[in-house]
Amino acid sequence: MIRFRRPLRCLWDFFRKELAEVLIPQKKIKDRVATLGAAISEDYAGKDLVIVCVLSGAFMFLADLVRHIYVHHEIYFMAASSYGDSTKSSGVVRLLLDLEANIEGRDVLIVEDIVDTGRTLDYIIRILKARNPASLRVCVLLDKRERREVDVPLGYVGFEIADRFVIGYGLDLAERYRNLPFVAVSKEESSD
Ligand code: IMP
Repeated sequence: MIRFRRPLRCLWDFFRKELAEVLIPQKKIKDRVATLGAAISEDYAGKDLVIVCVLSGAFMFLADLVRHIYVHHEIYFMAASSYGDSTKSSGVVRLLLDLEANIEGRDVLIVEDIVDTGRTLDYIIRILKARNPASLRVCVLLDKRERREVDVPLGYVGFEIADRFVIGYGLDLAERYRNLPFVAVSKEESSD
């Protein structure tokens, strides 16, 4: 018979040489996401909620968050890019995937993984606002407030974090580490 090892132990054994530290553990994320979901459910009771997930980084946050949202809603995806394969923003945002829904007159909630300079969100907000939604708010897991260059209104924030390049829980470094169930700092970043 195959003997299985404890899943988180295996994952940790595999990644620990590459991680400097776990910044936000799994349990803390779980609790905060549940709180955010409950707040969103109360605020959007009786409304026509459309959730727009910004790919790729927000996929894991979205999947957990919507399991705590107890009002009817539709989910759509957008993708924008400002980073390429590095840890520094290029400052130029490009739209890679647009919405498939008409959001005119509807209550739109953008779900994003992290706000850094604010340029990506600002770009997405401007695109969506031009389509005349009834309301437009943002729910973001991580806020690197001290890095902000463009002011963006945030309706719901999971955690405010310091200026460090983080990976895991959907966030990548050159497309890797998105599968980590916690938010961590890689050794590569901490040796910069
Ligand atoms: P901004 O346009 O500078 O606010 O950057 C937003 C986007 O950059 C996010 O959607 C992420 O994809 C990416 N990003 C910013 N900071 C980090 C980080 O610390 N780790 C991984 N991705 C990041």
